[in-house]
Amino acid sequence: MAATRIAVLGAGGFLGSHLVPRLLQLGDVQIDAVDQDLHKLECEDARVQRRVARLEQPGLVDEVTRSAHVVLSLTALCTPALYNTDPLAVIDANYTELLPLIRAAEQHRARLIHFSTCEVYGRRSLDMTGGAAATMNEDSNGLFLGPIHNERWTYACAKQLLERVLFAHGAHGNLHYSIVRPFNVIGPRMDFLPGVDGDGVPRVLACFMAALLRGDDLQLVDGGLQRRSFIAVEEFCEGIVRIVQRPDACRGQIINLGNPDNDVTIRELAEALSAEYAAYTGQPLARLREVSAEQFYGPGYDDTPVRVPDIAKARSLLGFEPRATLAQMLPGIVRDYVARYGAVQAAQPSRHLALEGS
Ligand code: UGA
Repeated sequence: MAATRIAVLGAGGFLGSHLVPRLLQLGDVQIDAVDQDLHKLECEDARVQRRVARLEQPGLVDEVTRSAHVVLSLTALCTPALYNTDPLAVIDANYTELLPLIRAAEQHRARLIHFSTCEVYGRRSLDMTGGAAATMNEDSNGLFLGPIHNERWTYACAKQLLERVLFAHGAHGNLHYSIVRPFNVIGPRMDFLPGVDGDGVPRVLACFMAALLRGDDLQLVDGGLQRRSFIAVEEFCEGIVRIVQRPDACRGQIINLGNPDNDVTIRELAEALSAEYAAYTGQPLARLREVSAEQFYGPGYDDTPVRVPDIAKARSLLGFEPRATLAQMLPGIVRDYVARYGAVQAAQPSRHLALEGS
């Protein structure tokens, strides 16, 4: 039998760069690793064909989809700082530019595993009557986005509409799809460090690591009382591999992948990360500084105060059982960031000091 051919679109991103090596462990696979930048994909393996290209490159989606048995679609603009500052690019990257991919997957009978987001649940978890629900469930929650002028929700709305398009192609056409909703996956190589290998504001783990490496304060948006449930990237990838392996069970399913046991405030994350960093490097504990959302993100930002996944479906379909605690995850993450960025980041002036001096 021919090897399973898997196209990973967005293979150079945080998740893609962890997923490709894990997929290789399946054995008889050929992987087309596609991204506009593949630097983070450190694995060298003859079964991986690296293709540096943008999804919009004419003919690319059709070509890759035509030869693939399975397509993993990970390309996205998914850092919240962009949602209210570059909303049209966010809508294009997360919706418009993905429509040809869905059509091509249906036409060429490629199985499509699309990475959506926990953000589709919106501001808080609600049941179908609008009552509060403790966790976020794929098939019984209402989806609660804020008003249009709160541009934070452009991303969630674009992602939700794409989910609806996928669902319609599955229900009324031939598309074989699964949708994954990741819940705050963390690990090495997340996003970028501002001024080092990217510009702007990354997600919270990279914000905090950048501050620690530069000796800056960790900034707590609105006091850092918001809660997130963090999952280790390795366990998340295990869930994805099981989805790849179970096409019939996962067909037409939306699946949360997260760890409800790691539900902490952002302040607690900051404290744990700075304690881990101090223990590893011998530096003094970093200071935490409160900042308003308006100062940090600008107007139009909004937030989700609590976000806990219901993973009953992942458990029953995949035998998915994430176990790693934050205390187990953080040492490896800190070590990797220090090894990867320590020297270059230390050479940069502290943003905080620069501002004070200006
Ligand atoms: C983001 C994306 O929008 C989702 O698509 C994605 O699924 C999700 O991350 C994820 O990683 O799974 P969010 O959790 O709000 O959503 O993004 P983060 O930037 O990681 O922020 C988490 C919380 O930390 C927010 O409340 C934010 O205000 C806060 N934060 C962020 C700080 O307090 N300080 C910072 O320096 C950065």
